[in-house]
Amino acid sequence: MSVSPSAPPSASPSASSARSAPTQADLFDFVRRTAADSELIASLPLDPEGRTWVRLEGPGGSEAWLIGWPPGTGTGWHDHADSVGAFLTAAGELKENALAVRLPTDGWKTLELTDSVDRERRLPAGQGRSFGRHHVHEVLNESSDRHAISVHAYYPPLPQIRRYSRSGPILRLEQVERPEDWQ
Ligand SMILES: [Fe+2]
Repeated sequence: MSVSPSAPPSASPSASSARSAPTQADLFDFVRRTAADSELIASLPLDPEGRTWVRLEGPGGSEAWLIGWPPGTGTGWHDHADSVGAFLTAAGELKENALAVRLPTDGWKTLELTDSVDRERRLPAGQGRSFGRHHVHEVLNESSDRHAISVHAYYPPLPQIRRYSRSGPILRLEQVERPEDWQ
């Protein structure tokens, strides 16, 4: 990971002037600053029945989202193809389950994961992470009574994500979603 000193990210979702591709560090800085904007965080509509989203303008042409997570919701296992990204909890607490292994991108339907590839981290408000290409994870709000809110940024904007199911060590590719599927 390299930091580009010539392209400082902006704290404002409406101002984007980076000239080079944003790095993981740029994206992380953006989500950290955005999560600290209490007015923006409070503006997200929350729905007890399901997740809510507001699209933001990320730095340098990146794709960014403000996401609300009711208690007990999660993403399921997925990757972000060739995009790098960052996310950070602004309110409540999220948990990330991730794989510490680089998976082959294509040509397989099921994989048996070895022991010791699972990583788990709890992300209370103010905590987040960045990730590289082909990162595979699921994000959950395990609270029984509290919404979580988080800020996410991806670059390049997500061309596709792959969804997986997980049964013990077996990871199975279920679906490839493209942007038109998310509308
Ligand atoms: Fe993700």
